[in-house]
Amino acid sequence: MPDHPSFLSLTDIADMASRHWGRALTAHVEEGGGEDQTRRANEAAFDRLRIWPRVLADVRQGHTALTLLGEPFVHPVLLGPLAYQSALHRDGELATAEAATAMDAGMVLSTLSSCSLEAVAAELPARKWFQLYFQARAEDTLRLVRRAEAAGYSALVVTVDVPVHGPRLRSQQAGFAMPEHVRAVNLAGMSAAQTHYLQAQDSVIFQGHMASAPRWDSIVWLQQQTALPIILKGILHPQDAVQAKKLGVAGVVVSNHGGRALEGSPASIAVLPQVRAAVDDDFLLLLDGGIRRGSDVFKALALGAQAVLLGRPQAYGLGAAGALGVAQVLRLLREELELTMALAGCATLADISAACLVNPNEFSAC
Ligand SMILES: Cc1cc2nc3c(=O)[nH]c(=O)nc-3n(C[C@H](O)[C@H](O)[C@H](O)COP(=O)(O)O)c2cc1C
Repeated sequence: MPDHPSFLSLTDIADMASRHWGRALTAHVEEGGGEDQTRRANEAAFDRLRIWPRVLADVRQGHTALTLLGEPFVHPVLLGPLAYQSALHRDGELATAEAATAMDAGMVLSTLSSCSLEAVAAELPARKWFQLYFQARAEDTLRLVRRAEAAGYSALVVTVDVPVHGPRLRSQQAGFAMPEHVRAVNLAGMSAAQTHYLQAQDSVIFQGHMASAPRWDSIVWLQQQTALPIILKGILHPQDAVQAKKLGVAGVVVSNHGGRALEGSPASIAVLPQVRAAVDDDFLLLLDGGIRRGSDVFKALALGAQAVLLGRPQAYGLGAAGALGVAQVLRLLREELELTMALAGCATLADISAACLVNPNEFSAC
């Protein structure tokens, strides 16, 4: 793919996307939950970590390769699940898949994709995972699982942190509405919610939204339905990671949904050390939330993640220049990661540890 001369940094790409999108769509992508406390904390927490430079190291055999769930990956930067990508660029998830393939990146396709999971799978020869939202009816959830299996997705990433949404203030204030033509096509013919009526004394949250939300036994049920490895996305508490591991899931994504789930929850990078300490070294931990540069990827790996997912940076790439923009984002982050590794004296990802950081322990969990 040809280089785009004006994209020197992620900020350039985000600015371009915002110009294409306008105010309302930009607000939809950028906002967190409530007043954006957690969303802001994600990025600020990375800024508080400092990396030790190490000089005169021999990194001539350096590389960023790794294995996840038995599959080889060229680098540890994956494209996380982002809903409704056709709102961000007319080619939607197909453009993202093209970029993932060109840049050897893993891709996690959202249940709420605006291109069918089969069409996207056809663009991805390898490293494709399907993000699953439990549906109100078990048979609908199962239909999605069967389709993902048939299309060749090699893992299910089950998002567990947004059984109910808080207010999305910024996009509401900006008057955002999803364009008519952008639909969750994978869910066509499925019912959005269980149809039962609330009594006068019932709570809209507890007896309403949460009535059909998944619980731990839903994960056990899902394990009985599929041989695909299951990763839980949206874990922050170490005890939830321990519980996930006890159930035999393949791994977890330490994530607060980019600050869009529980407002006031901690930055994902800030709790990663506690989550890593609670599970064995070989339990798969991925992280997302606030990754904006290659040095952030390095810091996440130093504190115990095997790989990271991109949320908004992927949206910026898509909005700025479709497949080319997403490819540029991946290229930037990968090059920055390699640069950071070289200057920190790390030839491989296995060399990256907490010892590479100046202040891994004083780093507060907020
Ligand atoms: C516009 C938007 C749509 C998202 N859609 C989904 C989704 O469909 N499924 C999901 O599991 N997470 C979704 N997320 C959360 C991301 O996968 C990811 O956890 C988060 O964006 C990471 O933080 P970052 O944006 O700071 O990189 C979405 C996030 C954004 C900003």
